Amino acid sequence: MSGEGRLRICEDAESLAWAAAALFVQRAEEAVAARGRCAVALAGGSTPRRAYELLAGEPHAGSVPWSHLHLFWGDERCLPAGDPQRNETMVRRALLDHVAVPPEQVHAIDCAGSPEVAATAYGDRIATFFDGQPPCFDLVLLGLGEDGHIASLLPGLATLMATDRWTGVARRAEEDFDRVTLTAPLFNQARLVVFLVSGRSKARVVRAALRGEGSLPVDLIRPVAGEVLWLIDREAASLLEADDGG
Ligand code: 6PG
Repeated sequence: MSGEGRLRICEDAESLAWAAAALFVQRAEEAVAARGRCAVALAGGSTPRRAYELLAGEPHAGSVPWSHLHLFWGDERCLPAGDPQRNETMVRRALLDHVAVPPEQVHAIDCAGSPEVAATAYGDRIATFFDGQPPCFDLVLLGLGEDGHIASLLPGLATLMATDRWTGVARRAEEDFDRVTLTAPLFNQARLVVFLVSGRSKARVVRAALRGEGSLPVDLIRPVAGEVLWLIDREAASLLEADDGG
């Protein structure tokens, strides 16, 4: 891995996953030592899966204070519980089926009702967890779409971008289900936001995001007091130049 500060470039997808797992362990230990608990918003998609699998095994699993962890999801597909396309299902299979996080501390997005009801209920759950204070996650993990989307904040969803709500509903034209997503104002309360990006197909959008070139959903991520870290592999970094990010 090379690079300091807000951009770290890993050799390949596997070393990115190891770096993400190590960072997760470190932030969990620090948060629990400082505040007695660690609240994480997990990314869906395919990129973080390997990091979750690594967390479920040694040398990571033994170091994570699982009983003090509170896990939330950055977004979810409104599909029945257990559907393989749900981010919850992916995280359960990769990680939660193998470690001991108390079930009441696993805050999956329940899509049993309408998407709007699910989004409102999830916003309420987050507000309750943070005791009415601004919801400050210790760690937010986010993937990045080739079109610049993060979580389910998709390009063109103007009302979702301009919202001051913590959660919202999104839909992609090509999908036959809705999505519930956390919003940028919520992500921006976090102590640390980490983008996990892998592969050559993401090189253009990574460059645009780091240079602030486009009007992309990812540009909405500007933590109020926290930090941003880009954890990307060499292929995703292949269009960057020395003065990008750093
Ligand atoms: C999802 C997401 C989404 C994802 C990006 C990147 O559930 O699909 O949360 O924002 O992180 O689309 O996905 P990949 O990691 O699969 O490229």
